[in-house]
Amino acid sequence: MIFLLIGFLFIHSTLCYEVPPAKLEAIYPRGLRVSIPDDGFSIFAFHGKLNEEMEGLEGGYWSRDITKAKNGRWTFRDRNAELKIGDKIYFWTYVIKDGLGYRQDNGEWTVTGYVNEAGEPVSTDGTLISAQLTTAASTKPTSNLFPCELSESKVSVPGFVCKGQLLFEDNFNSGIEKGKVWTPEIKFPGEPDYPFNVYLFDSNIRVKDGQLSIKPVTLESKYGEGHVRQSLDLTERCTGRIGTNECYREAFGPQILPPIITAKITTKKTFNFKYGRVEVRARMPQGNWILPEIQLEPRDNVYGSQNYASGLLRIATVKGNYDLLKKLYGGPILTENEPYRSKYLKEKIGFDSWSSSFHNYTLLWSSDGISLYVDGEKYGDVSPGHGFAEEAKENGVAAASQWLKGTMMAPFDEMFYISLGLSVGGIHEFPDSPNKPWSNKATKAMFNFWEARSQWLSTWIDDTSTLIVDYVRVYAL
Ligand SMILES: *[C@@H]1O[C@H](CO)[C@@H](O)[C@H](O)[C@H]1NC(C)=O
Repeated sequence: MIFLLIGFLFIHSTLCYEVPPAKLEAIYPRGLRVSIPDDGFSIFAFHGKLNEEMEGLEGGYWSRDITKAKNGRWTFRDRNAELKIGDKIYFWTYVIKDGLGYRQDNGEWTVTGYVNEAGEPVSTDGTLISAQLTTAASTKPTSNLFPCELSESKVSVPGFVCKGQLLFEDNFNSGIEKGKVWTPEIKFPGEPDYPFNVYLFDSNIRVKDGQLSIKPVTLESKYGEGHVRQSLDLTERCTGRIGTNECYREAFGPQILPPIITAKITTKKTFNFKYGRVEVRARMPQGNWILPEIQLEPRDNVYGSQNYASGLLRIATVKGNYDLLKKLYGGPILTENEPYRSKYLKEKIGFDSWSSSFHNYTLLWSSDGISLYVDGEKYGDVSPGHGFAEEAKENGVAAASQWLKGTMMAPFDEMFYISLGLSVGGIHEFPDSPNKPWSNKATKAMFNFWEARSQWLSTWIDDTSTLIVDYVRVYAL
């Protein structure tokens, strides 16, 4: 038997994965079934209208997210739809595969016949095509709405999104290379914090048993003793600006190479969004001067690229020093220097060290503020008031005048991407104190840090100094 009832799709989304065409079926005596074969999706959404064209990417008369495949197919079902021959369905579909969303637009399908539950063609009275006709099919359309309320969230895939929709998910069940969701940073980080590490994509970052782990190791453990006084050329694989000290460094006297190797991955090339709820389940690392980076970074640097002019959103941070492990921070950063740097960061003191187990860290970012949660409990709200610019200006933040171009949430009114990594030391994150081996203003900061390794390296214990991320999810608001 031939299925006449195949939906035709003409345009696929901007990314290169082709979503399998949807199969539409009119069920006798009533019902619409739309399905696609499973290809490792984590969501399938169907949006359609009857006898009326979709206006761009509106939610539609039918609008629903399916979150589970059954018998190898993702199936949307409206049991009450009463379709008649000649009815036309206009639709679009959306899937999430390996964390990224793909849409197929401009679907059109005309009802030319019916099938039974098993998918076999039946005549207009519900008998199998070969059998006798007895009753007439009902042709009255019913209204059966699954409303898609439009969300203010935006994603880098064109179009709009529905409220509450899952926009991004990575459970780290496959390697970071395979999914092509993440891009590793390979560079010497610089301004504004000048951390004491280089980011490499090396054996200290891996995905295993559904978890991402990133561990700091010394440069010498990879390149041999004394290598901090030599040179390192990353040009061939560098993700920084070629020809600058982001890609090539040569030691000169106390200007040593970054003595630590860490890693950082981002969704810069594949997934960017504006406004949403980000959930990250992670176990924080412990060890002196280690700083996990679980954050959102600006894609376009619309308000400038230096000194956090375009903002940074920390989903969660805990400094790895023993006496700081119970202090969780999160929130927006708008400049490099204290005291304004920490002005909007929210803090939560844990009963236990945040590094002793996994927690659910959530950042809710909307057009009127930012809220921070841990394990479902809110620990802070940030409101921009009439905009961040006024107060920033009083604090001498040069970029503040740029933010006036944007909304009151500026600089947090542009597209951001997810970034997961680890940094060490640096010249802003750790305030000077008697037991800190370097001073933030000293030109030899990195050198002094490395010279004092006998004080801190022993606090980096193999497993516990590792940042472990179980999943990352982003939902539309
Ligand atoms: C994580 O926390 C957020 C915010 O409180 C909550 O909405 C979400 O359901 C939590 N996720 C899990 C898997 O517990």
